[in-house]
Amino acid sequence: MKRYYIETFGCQMNVHDSEKMAGILKLEGYTETDSAKNADIVIFNTCSIRQKAEQKFFSELGRIKALKKRRPDLKIAVAGCIAQQEGSKIIERASYVDYVVGPQNIHILRDIATSEAGSIYTEDNPHITDVDIPADRRDNVRAWVNIMYGCNNFCSYCIVPYTRGRERSRASQSIINEIKDLAEKGYKEVTLLGQNVNSYKSNVDFPGLLKEINKIEGIKRIRFVTSHPKDISDELIYAIRDLDKVCEHIHLPLQSGSSKILALMNRKYTYDDYMKKIEQLKREIPEIAITSDIIAGFPQETDEDHNHTIKALKEVEFDSIFAFKFSPRPGTKASTIDGQLPDDIKSVRLSEILELQNTITERKNKELKGTIQEVLIEGVDEKSTGKFSGRTRTNKIVNIPSEDNAEPGDIITVKITRARRHSLEGEIV
Ligand code: 5AD
Ligand code: SF4
Repeated sequence: MKRYYIETFGCQMNVHDSEKMAGILKLEGYTETDSAKNADIVIFNTCSIRQKAEQKFFSELGRIKALKKRRPDLKIAVAGCIAQQEGSKIIERASYVDYVVGPQNIHILRDIATSEAGSIYTEDNPHITDVDIPADRRDNVRAWVNIMYGCNNFCSYCIVPYTRGRERSRASQSIINEIKDLAEKGYKEVTLLGQNVNSYKSNVDFPGLLKEINKIEGIKRIRFVTSHPKDISDELIYAIRDLDKVCEHIHLPLQSGSSKILALMNRKYTYDDYMKKIEQLKREIPEIAITSDIIAGFPQETDEDHNHTIKALKEVEFDSIFAFKFSPRPGTKASTIDGQLPDDIKSVRLSEILELQNTITERKNKELKGTIQEVLIEGVDEKSTGKFSGRTRTNKIVNIPSEDNAEPGDIITVKITRARRHSLEGEIV
């Protein structure tokens, strides 16, 4: 029996790509192992969104060199965004790597056993939406489902359009078939994945797709990531408001509160445009949770620009955010523009952003104390043994004491008894 070991870095798209790699290898007769030491093939599914992620991978790759020396028959594949970006340079740098497989070419893992060492698979794949790869999913309550691949937006800081290629939507019928199958297997929640789901287009648009998925029996919750603020339509807002399974949560990356910086980022909206969308979302769906991404220290960002971001955080009151220091990515426009900032300025600005958001997140969670929430149980809370863990429709984690009776996949009504910064506690009512 042959064994595989996959190490995944980066975003949800990569996590799901790894599930597909596992799905292919399983069909080829491989089983999973929890350590590279016992594997016949090791796959690194890499991320290049920021330099830190890249460094983390290269140090992991260095660590496997000794193992390959001891066991030359061990196959090593580098997949994901670094694979796409670096191609043959990876093998020049680490000659013990056997294959380089970009994110548009996962399907070739089918033939991995017969591939020649040194093979590079990084060509653009316009047929990515034609073939559905069966995923071997980790979870059995919640499932990721790709609805589109790639991105056409070319935000000036972002590497994704270069690594994942042009935007391509999957046919709505394949998506619906996949979700029907998931429902039959007992899945309760789907998260629709795309770099920019709002520009989904096949025979239906994104709100139309949500309408179709909302009809699928057995599925209780529908989520989606990521939305681009410039493409949020009235129809999408009405879909979140009116479709019972579509959860009241939207991840809407702002990136910066300064319209000058947003223009440099090529985001195609101003802060005022963004704020109008937020106001409309809150007006139509008062209970909605809004989360976001922020980049600190983009080139040419002055103290004043940074203060616009601080002001934005106070005005919008996000439920939570992911914030990052700007990281120049080779090949992107932002890596070459004037006015790159030193790391210490980026760090100070990032800390200020995170500190402010922490107080907002905590305050918003406290406001939920005493409220009644619908919670989908996902599993046991691993940090405090014996407690169930689930999420509200607004995507907040809720831990529930074990004396109560519940199991993964149950949807229960919970009264929130305690609020922490990153989670809530509740009891079944
Ligand atoms: N530097 C810092 N953050 C980045 N992101 C994307 N590219 C970069 C970069 N070069 C962030 C954005 C995006 C999130 C997924 O990662 O905020 O929304
Ligand atoms: Fe990157 Fe912008 Fe595309 Fe998101 S929308 S993947 S940030 S280029």
